[in-house]
Amino acid sequence: MTKQLDDLFAFLRFPSISTDSNHGADVRDCADWLVQKLSGMGLDVELHETARHPIVIARNEHQADKKTCLIYGHYDVQPVDPVELWDSPPFEPEIRDGRIWGRGSTDNKGQMLAHILGVEETLQEEGELPVNLIFLFEGEEEIGSPSLVPFLKKHQQELACDVIAVSDTGMVAKGVPTMGYGLRGITCCEVTLKGPAGDLHSGVYGGAVANPATAVARLVASLHDADGKIAIEGFYDDVRPLEDWERAMWARVPGASDDDILAITGSTATFGEPGYSSAERLWARPTAEVNGIGAGYQGEGSKTVIPAEAMAKFSFRLVPDQDPEDISAKVKTHLEKHCPEGITLEVEVGHHGKPYICDPHSENGKAGQVALEQAFGIAPVLIREGGSIPIIQDMKEILGVESIMLGLALPDCQIHAPNENFYVENFEGGIRLNRALLKQLA
Ligand code: BES
Ligand code: ZN
Repeated sequence: MTKQLDDLFAFLRFPSISTDSNHGADVRDCADWLVQKLSGMGLDVELHETARHPIVIARNEHQADKKTCLIYGHYDVQPVDPVELWDSPPFEPEIRDGRIWGRGSTDNKGQMLAHILGVEETLQEEGELPVNLIFLFEGEEEIGSPSLVPFLKKHQQELACDVIAVSDTGMVAKGVPTMGYGLRGITCCEVTLKGPAGDLHSGVYGGAVANPATAVARLVASLHDADGKIAIEGFYDDVRPLEDWERAMWARVPGASDDDILAITGSTATFGEPGYSSAERLWARPTAEVNGIGAGYQGEGSKTVIPAEAMAKFSFRLVPDQDPEDISAKVKTHLEKHCPEGITLEVEVGHHGKPYICDPHSENGKAGQVALEQAFGIAPVLIREGGSIPIIQDMKEILGVESIMLGLALPDCQIHAPNENFYVENFEGGIRLNRALLKQLA
């Protein structure tokens, strides 16, 4: 284990923040480290340059009579701000209270490395793998995988496989193995609202012209009705209803009750679409969220000003069978319609990702379930995920292959937030999981 933890610490020390161009060299160094690690295990490794961050592919020697399994992961991480809220520096990993603390520890370096180390153990003990393996690792997941889609199209033949396995999702509670069979999609946009030509004295001009800060608040408020249902025309048109068996199953899943959600989030009440439990709202219903909003004076004391501009950043989580382009167009129409008079609105459309769903009871799904049970000692629960990994649906469309999602991220792992952490027991469990999984898939 010490050697395996050393590997994880080395991997975590790279500040491979994909969104920040100041970290381009760090992302590259991280990819180089992976190449070294994988070649050292005797795999055939290729580093592919892209417009931004490299894609790393590794494979064993393939044999015609074996099944081909592709394991996907990402070695890029989210930014660390606000950095002052970390209890230890984000890129100086350490172990406290049975957890490994550091940016990327769960999302996704820890989960990804568990697969690599599982393969390493099998190769050391058995000399070969029970499957033809393709590792596919990218450095752009956190920015929407812009290079991977063209890469998949170009290398469709070399990436041909029978099943895809991914550990980049959640585990509902400690000790409760979890298989994901769905992911939400996403579409993002940013709005700028412009009013007067410049900031104005709020006494001299207040009351006579529209205020962009008021306008952005009205626009944000227009997205939901008073109950929490999304008020954009046609938004729910293509939403696939929950199946009865899902509702029955999720009602019994540990870690996803309203009380669990309150405890883990520190919120004082749950909020969302009427008629659905928290689990259902998270895993099978779409959302409209404000991720950022700004206008006017934010410093100490008061400043009597009408700001010239306001902004907001939105993201919409989508479920089968919503289409990101269609929703994006509906959102734009809604925002234009609800923009108050006297304000000009600019909408900049951001990245998209499609939702994903597959059958957890397929042959490969069952193999994944057995592997989870073998690695963690009890039968897994089956959930859809609230988060998004758009490339999973892209791989389905381009390679024609379904993914099984074997998540190791616990609700308090604080992915994307300060003090991200990964339970040592899940790192160990992930290594066992990989070994069981390759056997079961074979
Ligand atoms: N690993 C997460 C997605 C995730 C987390 C799925 C927990 C299920 C449970 C992934 O790295 C991520 O953060 N994805 C982004 C995608 C976006 C940038 C296109 C997300 O969901 O915000
Ligand atoms: Zn992430």
